[in-house]
Amino acid sequence: MLRELVRYGTLAPNSHNTQPWLFQIQNRRITIRPDMSRRCPAVDPDNHHVYATLGCAAENIVVAAKANGLAAIVSVADDDESAIRIDLDATAPADSPRYRAITERQCTRAEYDGKPVPSDELDLLEKAARSDGTDARLFTARADLEQILEYVVAGNSAQMNDDAFVDELRHWIRFNESDAVRHRDGLFSASSGNPTVPTWIGRLGFGLFFKEDTENDKYRRHILSSAGVIAFIADQDTKQGWIEAGRSYQRFALQATASGLKNAFVNQAVEVPEVRTQFSDYLGIGGQRPNLLVRFGYGPELPRSLRRPVDQVLV
Ligand SMILES: Cc1cc2nc3c(=O)[nH]c(=O)nc-3n(C[C@H](O)[C@H](O)[C@H](O)COP(=O)(O)O)c2cc1C
Repeated sequence: MLRELVRYGTLAPNSHNTQPWLFQIQNRRITIRPDMSRRCPAVDPDNHHVYATLGCAAENIVVAAKANGLAAIVSVADDDESAIRIDLDATAPADSPRYRAITERQCTRAEYDGKPVPSDELDLLEKAARSDGTDARLFTARADLEQILEYVVAGNSAQMNDDAFVDELRHWIRFNESDAVRHRDGLFSASSGNPTVPTWIGRLGFGLFFKEDTENDKYRRHILSSAGVIAFIADQDTKQGWIEAGRSYQRFALQATASGLKNAFVNQAVEVPEVRTQFSDYLGIGGQRPNLLVRFGYGPELPRSLRRPVDQVLV
C-alpha cells in the first residue's frame, strides 16, 4: 500500500517535469526528499519550486492515504534538507472526489473557453487553496486579468532573453513520443500543445520558433481566455512555507479537476525577482513573496506528461 501511495505522489505536478523527488518507505512512514540532481538552477535558483513540488507530492499522498484507510500526519524535518515525513495510521477509508481527481489532473497549457466559473465552485476552489500556512488571492474580473497579464509578460520577456533559462528549458523538452517514453520525464511537446518533431529538428528549430513576441501573445490568449487567476502566498518565506504553498496549490488543482476545470501555471510573474516584487505590490501583501500563480477555466484535455516508475524514485 505504501508503495502505491508513493506512485500517487509521483503523479503530482512538478517543475519542468524533472521529478526532483526521492521517496523512502519505513514501517508506517513515507519520507520525501529533494533530488537535487534534478533541480533547475536557471528558473529556480533558490530551490523554491523543488520544495513546492515536494509539497504537491505530499498532498497527493495524504489524499490517497485517507481514501485507502490511512490517516496522515505531515511534518518537515528540522535539517538542511527539510525532508517531508508522512506518518500513517489506520483510519476509516474515505473516498473523495479529490482522490479520484489525482489520476485525471494535468497542467493544461491551452486556450480555455472564457466561460465563467459559478460562484459556489469558486468558493470551493478558494477554500481548497487556503490553509493555516497559506493565503490565496483569486481574481476573475477582466481588469485584474489584464493587469496580471502584464506581470506575466514582463517576466516572460526577461526569461526569454536569459540564455541560461532558454538552454535549461530546451534541455528538458521532449520533442516527440519516443523521446518522452525513453526518458519518462521532461516537458513533452504535445503536452504543451506543440507539434512533435524529430529531436534534432526540435533542438535546432527551438531558437527559431521560441520567440519572445510569439510566446507573449500566447500567454495573452491563455490568460484572457481563462475564467480566473489565483496567487498562492505562504505565510513564511522558508522551505516549510514553500512546501505549504505546494500543498495548497495541489488541493486547489485536485478540487478544480473534480469540478471539471483545467488549470496551468503562469509563474513568470513570480520567478523573476524584480517582477515578483512589483507583483507583490500589486497584490498588496506587504512585501510577502507570492509563491505560485495559476490560471484556471474550462478547456480541452491535452496529452499526458509521463512519470518515471516508482522503482526509480524509491531509496
Ligand atoms: C512548483 C511548480 C512550478 C511550475 N511552473 C510552471 C510554469 O511556470 N509554467 C508551466 O507551464 N508549468 C509549470 N509547472 C507545471 C509542470 O511543468 C507540470 O506539472 C509538469 O510538466 C508535469 O505535467 P502535469 O502536471 O500535467 O502532470 C510547474 C509545476 C510546479 C509544481
